[in-house]
Amino acid sequence: MQKLLDQVKQLFEEEQFIHEPRELYEPIEYTLRLGGKRIRPVMLLAANQMFGGEVEQVRYAAIGIETFHNFTLLHDDLMDKSPLRRGKPTVYCKWDENTAILSGDTMYALAWRYFLRQPHPHLQEILNCFNETGIQVCEGQQYDMNFEHQTNVTIADYLMMIRLKTAVLLAGALKIGALYANAPAADVENLYQFGIHLGLAFQLQDDLLDGYGDVAVFGKKTGQDIRDNKKTYLILKALELATPRQKEELEHLFATTPEDSEAKVTRVLEIYGQIGIRQHVQEAIQKEFDLAQQHLQAIQVQQAQKRPLEELMDALFERKK
Ligand code: IPE
Ligand code: IPE
Ligand code: MG
Ligand code: MG
Ligand code: MG
Repeated sequence: MQKLLDQVKQLFEEEQFIHEPRELYEPIEYTLRLGGKRIRPVMLLAANQMFGGEVEQVRYAAIGIETFHNFTLLHDDLMDKSPLRRGKPTVYCKWDENTAILSGDTMYALAWRYFLRQPHPHLQEILNCFNETGIQVCEGQQYDMNFEHQTNVTIADYLMMIRLKTAVLLAGALKIGALYANAPAADVENLYQFGIHLGLAFQLQDDLLDGYGDVAVFGKKTGQDIRDNKKTYLILKALELATPRQKEELEHLFATTPEDSEAKVTRVLEIYGQIGIRQHVQEAIQKEFDLAQQHLQAIQVQQAQKRPLEELMDALFERKK
């Protein structure tokens, strides 16, 4: 996996992001150079190499998928009012809201330009996958915002929402990598389902880290989901397990946006502690990792070819950022 990370790092080092007008491209360069974990291009490369592909064959698809992901972050931080990303001020805070919108839009178009530069007999199917993924991510983001104001959200609704906003992009990255390597359809499908379950686990972890992460490592301000009244697994499970009194208080806290948001975060985490919510989220994460593992096992390639994705899965299981 380290080899894949190095390959992705090099792809980005060789790419130029600054053009004119600088006001448009500087926030793009800022975001893409901050890096992040780059798991989507790593997954794209891993899937490609699993079926005998070569880096050059997917260079622009890998950059394109990460550029798309970073576009979603520019808009997501504006929508979520998040001040910090990758340990640095978010684009809408460092510049302004219009910058986050326009540089973000440009990144989505740039992602398309990258994909179109990478010819392949399956390009139609690849672009279709990329485009459908883009639509689904926006659908997920809309559900995520709708749920902020909805009081009857179920865990099934939540899982549907995170599948759209997060899991399909991980799954899509894998599928695209595999399509470039002409992988058999049954394997592509298992790889896709592997990505879906890994993605569900990944977002469950993100929600857990939002409550309990270390800001210095996580790189994002914690408690933001609570401030935003996000219907994450944490609150939904807590409401399920709460005593009538706790339930009433949590419902009240998630229906209001008080001036003193820190007191709200503290109180919500206190009740989560009483209920023991972390353990329940961990169990849900474990369940998704197990399902992911099953789909990875079902892929018809030699065990050694699966090693990088197994390593990625192990690394993600432990993740603190
Ligand atoms: C953040 O994605 C958005 C989510 C889907 C939770 P990552 O956690 O992959 O962010 P970076 O790219 O590593 O910063
Ligand atoms: C991530 O959801 C989904 C997308 C960015 C599409 P979050 O809103 O939880 O992601 P973070 O926590 O801001 O990275
Ligand atoms: Mg967010
Ligand atoms: Mg969000
Ligand atoms: Mg989050």
